[in-house]
This record gives sequence, C-alpha cells and structure tokens, in this order.
Amino acid sequence: MHNAALAALGIDWRYLAFNVRPEDLGPAIAGAKATGMIGLNLTVPHKLLAVHLVDVLDESASTWGAVNTVRFEGQASNGDWLPLRCFDEAPAKVRAHGFNTDAEGIILSLREDLGFTAPGTKILLLGAGGAGRAAALRLAAERPREIYLVNRTTQKAEELGLEIRTRYPFVKVNLGYPPGAIDLALNATSLGLKPEDPLPFDPRSLPLKNTKAAYDMIYRPAETAFLAAAKQAGCRVANGLGMLLYQGARALELWTGVPAPVSVMRKALEANVYGSPEVH
Ligand code: ATR
Repeated sequence: MHNAALAALGIDWRYLAFNVRPEDLGPAIAGAKATGMIGLNLTVPHKLLAVHLVDVLDESASTWGAVNTVRFEGQASNGDWLPLRCFDEAPAKVRAHGFNTDAEGIILSLREDLGFTAPGTKILLLGAGGAGRAAALRLAAERPREIYLVNRTTQKAEELGLEIRTRYPFVKVNLGYPPGAIDLALNATSLGLKPEDPLPFDPRSLPLKNTKAAYDMIYRPAETAFLAAAKQAGCRVANGLGMLLYQGARALELWTGVPAPVSVMRKALEANVYGSPEVH
C-alpha cells in the first residue's frame, strides 16, 4: 500500500520489508539512520523494544508505550529538527523520532468504515489482551458514555477497567454484557481467525439486534462468524483492514508531509490481502 501511494504521489522512494531479529533492532535502526532512510515501520515484537532505542518519543508513542513508526529527522542550521525530506544534502546530525499510529488507526477506521464516532456512545469491547487494551484506552479518550468489558480471563478485564477509570474518570466502565442497546460491539479477541473458532461473545447475553454497529479487528477472513451474525441482525459492520490501512496512511503522512492517497492504499492493500479488490 505504501509503494502504491508513493507512485500515486510521484515520490521516488521505496518501501521495503526487512526481517530483523529483536537483538539486532538497535543496530538496524542505527543503520537506517546512517544510510539516510526516511523512516521505518516496526511490527511485533519490535514495537515495545523501539521505545528504548529511538532518540525522542512523540506523545502518541509515550502514551501507548509502543513505537510503530520512526521518522528520521536532521538538525537544520537554526537548530530545528526537520524530516529528512526537507534537506538537499545529508545533515550532520540525524535523530530517530518514534511515533505510534496504531491507536489512531482504529479511531479513523471506525469513523470512515462504520460512520462511528465515540462521544456519548455505549461500547462493548470483547477482549482485553494487547489489542483490546489499546483500543479501549484510545476509545475512552474520545468520551463515550459507557464501556462494557468482556474477557475470558476476568482478571484482565478488571485490570483494564481500573486503568480506564484511572486515566479517563469521565467514562463509566462496566464489567460484563450491557443490559440494553449499544452503539458498538468490537471484537478484539483472536476468536474468528480459525474457521472452527466459537463466536467471541455469548449470543444469549448479547442480542445483536440491539447493537447498531459491529467491528472485528480480524481482517483475515474478511467476514468472521461474528461479523456474519451481526450483518444478519442488521448491524453496520466492518473488519479490521481499515485499522491496518489508516495506521499506514498516518505513517506515510508523517514521512511525506502530504495527505495520504487513502483510496489508492486501500485498493493495493485489498489486492494484497484478499487477492482482489473487496466489494464494499
Ligand atoms: P492481541 O495482542 O492480539 O490482543 P493477546 O494479548 O494474546 O493478543 O489477546 C488475545 C485476546 O483473545 C485476549 O482477550 C484473549 O483472552 P484471555 O485474556 O482470556 O487470554 C482472547 N482469546 C484468545 N483465545 C480465546 C479463547 N479460546 N476464548 C476466549 N477468548 C480468547
């Protein structure tokens, strides 16, 4: 999706993938810096390690304790740090600036793919693992009225509930299923990745007809049993491909300084993930 975007923007850069062992991440970042690379994306398990390896952290990265995007910046003669695209010749001093665009990706995908904005809403979050925690905390910052947390391991839901209450005391947090209608049910569990997986929720406790929209962070398969059931019940539905798309679009904007060509990126991503453009 990045190379398609760069071609559409007429920018002569290339986005390349490298396999890096966790113990080599420091030298890999130093090497990218030394060779004048514009920036990096990092994925599991590098996102947490990179927090300690970049020179400066953006608030997005310090808030979530994870870096998924690095922008290399040079020091201009007036002392300001500017993205490398702003220099004709390699600057003497270069630093690695760490960002996190993952959390923003979910907010943008919910808005663009589902027409969902969180303020004043009731949200059910299924799953309190790594992805569920980040989604819950980022959504809580948007001031929904209530968040309901359901997780197989109750203790993890309790800990997450406490963290939300501490950081965002204006949000009402409940453990368990909502008693009435909700605006969004979001699956952040891994249930649905495999065809034999059970539903990520208890259908007796969550009547989907009382749910306006359903989002599954899983994007392969494109339609999980959860999304199929939600669609059948009349919910607006979207899968997690948009999260991947929008975290990438935001990263590209950090590197290029211009708006990302999102539809070009979506088409390239869908062709890559599903083999052909998805019909929406
Ligand atoms: P990720 O980083 O993708 O969120 P994770 O932190 O391992 O991965 O979280 C996986 C989530 O899927 C958790 O909410 C997990 O529930 P537990 O906290 O109880 O482990 C949930 N999950 C995984 N397998 C499950 C299963 N068979 N039944 C119910 N929930 C499951």
